[in-house]
This record gives sequence, structure tokens and C-alpha cells, in this order.
Amino acid sequence: MQRQTVAIVLLIGLAFGLVSLTPAMSSWRLFDNQQGYAPPQPIAFSHRLHAGELQLDCRFCHTAAGESRHAGIPSSDTCMKCHKFVTAPYGLVQDEVSKAGEENREPNVVVSEEIAKLYEALGLGEDLQPDPEKTPQPVAWVRVHDLPDFVYFDHRAHVHAGVSCQKCHGPVESMQQMRQFSDLTMGWCVNCHRESNAKGIEGHAMDASLDCASCHY
Ligand code: HEC
Ligand code: HEC
Ligand code: HEC
Ligand code: HEC
Ligand code: HEC
Repeated sequence: MQRQTVAIVLLIGLAFGLVSLTPAMSSWRLFDNQQGYAPPQPIAFSHRLHAGELQLDCRFCHTAAGESRHAGIPSSDTCMKCHKFVTAPYGLVQDEVSKAGEENREPNVVVSEEIAKLYEALGLGEDLQPDPEKTPQPVAWVRVHDLPDFVYFDHRAHVHAGVSCQKCHGPVESMQQMRQFSDLTMGWCVNCHRESNAKGIEGHAMDASLDCASCHY
């Protein structure tokens, strides 16, 4: 055998060894394990507030989760469905309204620091109208989940099979700051595929693939 072939055989052997022979090792990650990763975001957006208290459906913002590979991050226009009117937390607005009442004047528009960042990204001026001096830019949200490029993952198949967002992403509606809940290892994927096939989901039989080629290019 040529040296290259030997190296490849060794690599594949190693992969099988790590992956299938010792279950504990299949939770190793190739690079570093990012479980719990919670990078600071450019705007302090809270899922606990929006998906929890306000009870917005996940797919109100992540509209693509059922139709495409990626769930997608909403554009600032989605936020403006509400933040055109909601310029600050209710308490702050109420404070200004009662102060204006005492001082016998019209209340000023109160814009909180975090919402101001949203308006800035949209290039709006103080009157909340587009400011020709400003250039709108998408908010630079920091990506939390990131599988290696050699793995194929598709939201559609999972959403259609009835796997809930929370099963993979955890109790998002209680997260003040988004974090990676699952370890995203190969063992995590494969174990759930086995378990789904054995138990079904909500009474439906499942046939989740265990073929290398379903998840690897
Ligand atoms: C259900 C999806 C799925 C299937 C089926 C699957 N893999 Fe993976 N595999 C993954 C994921 C996800 C990773 C990335 C893990 C990480 O980043 O830690 C991975 C990583 C790997 C790696 C890199 C080393 C490692 O452990 O991180 C090798 C090699 C590998 N897979 C080989 C295989 C082989 C061979 C098969 C078939 C026996 C297979 N995989 C089946 C999802 C899968
Ligand atoms: C009001 C809009 C909105 C709603 C509703 C919403 N999200 Fe999000 N989601 C966002 C924004 C904005 C980000 C990017 C900022 C961040 O990570 O916090 C995000 C990020 C995420 C991420 C991390 C993406 C990455 O970078 O890896 C996941 C996972 C997620 N959301 C899941 C959910 C789930 C599950 C629900 C329902 C329980 C939900 N979201 C409801 C707006 C929303
Ligand atoms: C079977 C597990 C699983 C389910 C169910 C699931 N996700 Fe994900 N999600 C992932 C994985 C894995 C990634 C990372 C994908 C990558 O890096 O390519 C991810 C990434 C994301 C992202 C980052 C952007 C993207 O699409 O890559 C968002 C947002 C997200 N998920 C939201 C949701 C929402 C909302 C639901 C429910 C409608 C949901 N997810 C259901 C596993 C899941
Ligand atoms: C369905 C309506 C709705 C949508 C859509 C929505 N929000 Fe909100 N958001 C609210 C409400 C209402 C509050 C204020 C709650 C309170 O009184 O504290 C709020 C509060 C906030 C706050 C906290 C403000 C502060 O100063 O404490 C931030 C930041 C925020 N939203 C960002 C966003 C972003 C970014 C998006 C789009 C990804 C978005 N929101 C989409 C209704 C919405
Ligand atoms: C919580 C359980 C769960 C997790 C975790 C999970 N899957 Fe799945 N996966 C399923 C189910 C259920 C199906 C659909 C099976 C069906 O339709 O019969 C599926 C389907 C798929 C499919 C479509 C091909 C097929 O088998 O029908 C791919 C590709 C896939 N998963 C890849 C992944 C990868 C890659 C990961 C890890 C990053 C992962 N899955 C994690 C449950 C899971």
C-alpha cells in the first residue's frame, strides 16, 4: 500500500474507533466543544422577554425553519413591526408620561439605549424617519451555533418530523441571552436518530438515517 492510502485507512479506522466503539468518546468534538457558548450580542435582545413573556412564536421571527435548511435570523424590519411603536420599556415611557403631566407639557418620545441601537442600524433619525446622513446596516448578530462544514444539517426535515425547537435548543423562552444548549457532537445526532427510530415521535414511526452519507458530504 502507498503511504497515503495507509494514512487514509488509519484515519477511517480511528474515526470508527472513536465514533462507534467507545460511546463516551463519541461526545468528543473534533475542534473544541462549544456547549454553553453565549457570546455577547450587539443588541441585548432577550428571548425570555420576546418568546417567553410576550409569547411570540419562534417562527414569527425564524420564518425559514420549516421551509429551508437554515432557520435564519430575522431582519430589523421584523423588529419594527413592534418597535416602530415600542421605543422603550413600558415603565420608562410611563415615567415620562406622568412627569409630563405634572409639568403640564406633552410627553417626549423616550428611546432606550438598546432600542436606539436598532434605530441606528436602520439608519433612522431622532424623528424615527430615515436619515439621509445615515447608511442602514444589518445588525451584526454573533453566530452561536456552527457545525463544521463537512456536516449536513437541515431544519426542515426535523421540523416536519415534529421535533420541537426546544428538544435541540433547550428552554429558549427562558434565556435572557442566547446560548448553545446541546453539544452538537456526532453522538448527539446519532443517538437521537436511534432513539427516534425506536420510539417514534408523537405516535409516528420515524426512519432517521444512520448512513454516514446522510450527514457527511
Ligand atoms: C446523524 C448525523 C451523522 C451521521 C449519520 C454520521 N455523522 Fe459523522 N459527524 C456528525 C457530526 C454532527 C459531526 C461533527 C461533530 C463535531 O463537530 O464534534 C461528525 C463528525 C465526524 C467525524 C470527525 C471526527 C469526530 O468524531 O468529530 C468523522 C470522521 C465522522 N463524523 C465519520 C462518520 C462516519 C464514518 C459515519 C458513518 C458510520 C458518520 N460519521 C455518520 C454527524 C453524523
Ligand atoms: C422577536 C424575534 C424572535 C423570536 C420570537 C425568537 N427569536 Fe430566536 N433569535 C432572534 C434574534 C434577533 C437572534 C439573534 C440574537 C441572539 O442570538 O440572541 C436569535 C437567535 C436564535 C438562536 C441562535 C442562532 C445562532 O446564532 O446560532 C436560536 C437557536 C434561536 N434564536 C431559537 C429560537 C427559538 C427556539 C424561539 C422560540 C422559542 C425563538 N428563537 C424566538 C429573534 C427571535
Ligand atoms: C434536531 C435539532 C434541531 C431542531 C429541532 C431545531 N434546530 Fe435550530 N439548529 C440546530 C443545529 C444543529 C444548528 C446549527 C446549524 C449549522 O451550524 O449549520 C441550528 C441552528 C439554528 C439557528 C441559527 C441559524 C441557522 O439556521 O443556522 C437558528 C436561528 C435556529 N437553529 C432556530 C431554530 C428554531 C426556531 C427551531 C424550531 C422551529 C429549531 N432551530 C429547531 C438544531 C436544531
Ligand atoms: C411583537 C412585538 C415585538 C417584536 C416583533 C419585537 N419586539 Fe422587542 N420588545 C417588545 C416589547 C413590548 C418590549 C418592551 C417590554 C417592556 O415593557 O419591558 C420589547 C423590548 C425589547 C428590548 C429591550 C429594550 C430595553 O431598553 O430594555 C430590546 C433590546 C428589543 N425589544 C429588541 C428587539 C429586536 C432586536 C427585535 C427583532 C429581532 C424585536 N425586539 C422584536 C416587542 C417586540
Ligand atoms: C432530537 C432528535 C434529533 C437530533 C438531535 C438530530 N436529529 Fe436528525 N432527524 C431526527 C428525526 C426524527 C428525523 C426525521 C426522520 C423521519 O422523517 O422519518 C431526522 C432527519 C434528519 C435528516 C434527513 C435525512 C433522514 O434521515 O430522513 C438529516 C440529514 C439529519 N436528520 C441530520 C442530523 C444531524 C447532522 C444532526 C446533528 C447535528 C441531527 N440530525 C440531530 C431527529 C434528530
